[in-house]
Amino acid sequence: MRKTIIEPFKIRVTEPLVQLTRQKRESVLEEAHYNLFLVRSEHVTFDFLTDSGTTAMSAAQWAAMMVSDESYAGSRSFHRFREKVTSITGYPHVIPTHQGRAAEKLLFGILLKPGMKVPSNNHFDTTRANIEYMGAQAVDLVIPEGKVPELEHPFKGNIDLERLESFCKEFKDKIPLGMLTITNNTGGGQPVSLENIRDAARIYHRYGIPFILDACRFAENAWFIKTREPARDRDPIRNIVREIFDLADGCMMSAKKDGLVNIGGFIALKHETWVQDLRNQLILTEGFPTYGGLAARDLEALTVGLDEVLEEDYLRYRIATSHYMGRRLIELGIPIVRPVGGHAIYIDAAKFLPQIPKSEFPGQALAVELYLQDGIRSCEIGSVMFKEAAPMELVRLAFPRRVYTQSHFDYILEGFEELRARAASLRGFRITEAPPFLRHFTAKFAKL
Ligand code: F0G
Repeated sequence: MRKTIIEPFKIRVTEPLVQLTRQKRESVLEEAHYNLFLVRSEHVTFDFLTDSGTTAMSAAQWAAMMVSDESYAGSRSFHRFREKVTSITGYPHVIPTHQGRAAEKLLFGILLKPGMKVPSNNHFDTTRANIEYMGAQAVDLVIPEGKVPELEHPFKGNIDLERLESFCKEFKDKIPLGMLTITNNTGGGQPVSLENIRDAARIYHRYGIPFILDACRFAENAWFIKTREPARDRDPIRNIVREIFDLADGCMMSAKKDGLVNIGGFIALKHETWVQDLRNQLILTEGFPTYGGLAARDLEALTVGLDEVLEEDYLRYRIATSHYMGRRLIELGIPIVRPVGGHAIYIDAAKFLPQIPKSEFPGQALAVELYLQDGIRSCEIGSVMFKEAAPMELVRLAFPRRVYTQSHFDYILEGFEELRARAASLRGFRITEAPPFLRHFTAKFAKL
């Protein structure tokens, strides 16, 4: 086996890589009050803010878009899309939405009432917010190992089965659905084992609770099962994917991740029970059931993306890249959440910059310096985002799919080596202005 990771594609359309001087970046940041959300992307060299909707599409996807059928009702593109989702998941009922949170809003809208509870390993922010918006409670039951950043465990996204069992036993009449997020984004993009999915399904079903997957990184999760679960390495990825979906009653999907598209989502269900209600709501808010807030060309791109994401060469390269970054950062002595998950690296800024106390936002200091030094846009996930409730001071580098190459990553690693030498000289920040909610998006900062 060669050591060098090669991209399993050739590049035919390019975008220039923005390269500003440090001096220019300093003035950009000053103007943005040191908030990277307020920086224009044309001033960013490596945009690692999110892996969502940032995919580079293939020639086959662009070609499929050209032959879409933009009919309001009964479009050929919808039927192709529906057949693809059904062939992958086995679920016959497919409801398109414009993105993941629209699927959440629809499903929770018809199922949840105040006082109800929805367990999962970890709910993603928008999932939690949509549950709470209905007056219900989002309950995180990830295994204890999933909360310890430096602890190695092959499936840190697993749900704690004992706690799930007792939770379902106690509240079964208040739980209209149970969930699992694959991979577990909030916990660091960590996978859930097939065994754990099977056991969780058994518990949910024993208490008569429908089991719905948040499946937006289902292919990455399946790859971890293939490579980490005993005697799975010879199974074709599609069989593993099918086994996962067979265990659940349906899924919600933000196709902006493992759909390999820039916009899109869906709900897919095994049973008909909720379908009519969902379609009625869909017509109110998203659009007719055969396009659900998307153009038919978006559905065409997604239909092709769902096949491409299951190519084993693609998945091998995808996971090898984040793991290469993780391994090299560990070798450089940069503290990160371990093991590396699928779509992102999380740097432990509190450990990397011990001279900066929590109250002076070590994550923000690191994110700012990564931008100043190399034009990297990352995301603070710590005291800026969660105030005093922040469990850790992390900085997330989320990798867009098929966008950056191995030499980009090597260049960034060289930058980390330089940064490490200067780490002790970095200083913290204070907030000069912030809104009452979701302050990380618009807060203004000043250097200390
Ligand atoms: N579920 C998970 C696990 C997610 O990671 C996301 C989005 C959603 C649902 C919502 O999907 O954005 O299409 O409405 N995560 C992005 C991120 C935003 O950066 O991690 P959406």
